[in-house]
Amino acid sequence: MTRRIRIRTRTGLVAATALTALMTLSTPAAPAARPADLTLGAAAAGTGRWFGTAIAGYKLADPVYTGIAAREFSMVTPENEMTFDATEPRRGQFSFAPGDRIVDFAGANGQRVRGHTLLWHPGLPAWLVSLGGSELRAALMNHVTQVMRHYQGRIDSWDVVNEAYADGTGRRRDSILERTGGDWIEVAFRTARVADPAAKLCYNDYGIEDWTAAKTQAVYAMVKDFTARGVPIDCVGFESHFDHLSPVPATYGTTLRNFADLGVDVQITELDIEAAPPAAYRQAVRTCLRVRRCTGITVWGVRDSDSWRSGSTPLLFDAAGDKKPAYPAVLGELGLNCSRGRTLGPPRPGRPV
Ligand code: G3I
Repeated sequence: MTRRIRIRTRTGLVAATALTALMTLSTPAAPAARPADLTLGAAAAGTGRWFGTAIAGYKLADPVYTGIAAREFSMVTPENEMTFDATEPRRGQFSFAPGDRIVDFAGANGQRVRGHTLLWHPGLPAWLVSLGGSELRAALMNHVTQVMRHYQGRIDSWDVVNEAYADGTGRRRDSILERTGGDWIEVAFRTARVADPAAKLCYNDYGIEDWTAAKTQAVYAMVKDFTARGVPIDCVGFESHFDHLSPVPATYGTTLRNFADLGVDVQITELDIEAAPPAAYRQAVRTCLRVRRCTGITVWGVRDSDSWRSGSTPLLFDAAGDKKPAYPAVLGELGLNCSRGRTLGPPRPGRPV
C-alpha cells in the first residue's frame, strides 16, 4: 500500500505521483501465486465459483483425508449424514450430530455447505414407508421443515428433492413419495422456502446432463413450469457421474445453458468420471466455466478410496492422497480462465462467456 505524499513544488502533484510510483516500484510486489500455491477452491474462486467435495463424517479422523479436504475445497456436501433416514431415523426423533460435525468442519475451514438431501426415495426410514396418503405427505413436509430449521443459516443450497425422475424415460420415478400426489415436489419446494428463506433450493438428479435425453427434457419441463408459476426453485444440480457407457455428453453445455436461461443456477454436484481421464475432467470444468450461472463444481469424494465406486478410480486424488493427472488438468482449466484475467465475477444470468 503506498501513501500519496503531497509535495509543494513547481511540478505540483507530478512529483508526488513520481514518488508514489517510486515507492511502488521499490515495494516488492507480492509474489504471483505459483501453481503449487493454487488449490481447486482458490482457482475456482478466481472465476467466481466454488469447488467442492462430498465429505463422509466417519473419515474426519483421517488426517490425510481432512488435510486434502480442508486445503483444496471451498464447499462440502455431507455424503450420507443429512438424508432422511440419517436425520429422522424414528418419527419425530431427529439425529443431527453427524451432519453437525461436517457443518462444523466446514465452518472451521471457511467452507460453505450443500445440504444433501431432504427427500430422496432410497434414503427413507422404515417408519415412513408404513405411512400413506395425507399422513405421509404431512410427515414428509414436517421433515423438510424441521431439518431446514435446524441448519438454518448454515446451508448454502439444499438438494430439496433428489432423483425424482425414472431412468431413460420422461416419467416420474415410482416411489412412495410420488404416491402422495404428483404435486409433492412443488409442495416440498414451497415448504423449504418457508423453512429457510436464505438457502438456495435445488432439484438434483443424474442422467440429465445430455440435452437429448428424455429424462433431461422431463426435468427441464418441470423447472420451466416451476419458474413460470413462481414455485420457489433456485438451482438444478447435475450429478455428472460419467463412465465409458455414459461419457461427458457433447450437449452438456447446451443443457446447462438452457436450464440457466430459465433463471436458475446450475451446479455440477457429484462429478466423478471413470478412470479420471484428464481430458474428460477438463471438458466438464470448461463446460461449467462457459455458463455464467454454473456456480460451482463438486467432486463426489476426496480420494479414489473414498468413492462410492472406488473400483472405477474416478476422482482427483488416489488412495494414498496423491494428485492424479486429472488434478492439474482441472486446476489448469480453472487457473487458465483465472490467469487470462477472465475472472467472471459472481455468476450472473446464464449466457455463454
Ligand atoms: O454406515 C453404514 C455402516 O454402519 C455399515 O457397516 C455399512 C455396511 O453396510 O454401511 C454403511 O452405510 C453405507 C453408507 O453409504 C455409508 O457408507 C450404506 O450401506 C451405503 O449404501 C451408502 O452408500 C451411499 C449411497 O449414496 C446410497 O446412500 C454412498 O456412500 C454415497 O456416495 C451415494 O451417494 C449418492 C448420492 O447421495 C445421490 N446421487 C447418487 C450418489 C451415488 O449413489
